[in-house]
Amino acid sequence: MAFTLPPLPYDFSALEPAIDTLTMQIHHGKHHNAYVTNLNNALAGKPDLETKSAEDLLRNLDAVPAEIRTAVRNNGGGHVNHTAFWQWMAPKASGGGGDPQGAVAQAITSTFGSFADFKTKFQDAGAKRFGSGWAWLILKDGKLIIGSTANQDNPIMGDAIAGVSGTPILGLDVWEHAYYLKYQNRRPDYMAAWWEVVNWGKVAELYATAGGR
Ligand SMILES: [Fe+2]
Repeated sequence: MAFTLPPLPYDFSALEPAIDTLTMQIHHGKHHNAYVTNLNNALAGKPDLETKSAEDLLRNLDAVPAEIRTAVRNNGGGHVNHTAFWQWMAPKASGGGGDPQGAVAQAITSTFGSFADFKTKFQDAGAKRFGSGWAWLILKDGKLIIGSTANQDNPIMGDAIAGVSGTPILGLDVWEHAYYLKYQNRRPDYMAAWWEVVNWGKVAELYATAGGR
């Protein structure tokens, strides 16, 4: 069963002005689509792997044959990360932006001092990620932590590969392809604007599913 590109859960223009339409079209239709195609190409002819979920492949990269491990790491990571990323955003009319609510909001405040302090620390993680990668809010051993990974690595790959581990409940793509058309080299401006479209309802759902309280 080949992996497929999931449709965006909103229009390409729905995240304007924080994220521009052309960036969304290229990011979803070209970049994410290429990860899906390349993942399928890597797994072709390996039926024992083709039946696994992308998450299962990433959690057990050691079980992937060495000759395709890097391809699965990069393209499986790209597929999983982007599938989640589209859901971590929502148009304002559908609840994007604003402040987190409920248990996850309380956990953010108690862990990082305040929502504003959390945003500063999260953006700092994204700003310090040299080159391409992601900033993450992760639930690990019942506690929230902020981390970042290179390229398309994901915390579910584990510390040895990703440099951080746990269950991601929010992630921000800081690859230039995510912002360059509108923000050029101004990654901090992109990150600051991104809060306007964060889907805190999805974050709360993932926090609860991961066992956060
Ligand atoms: Fe991306």
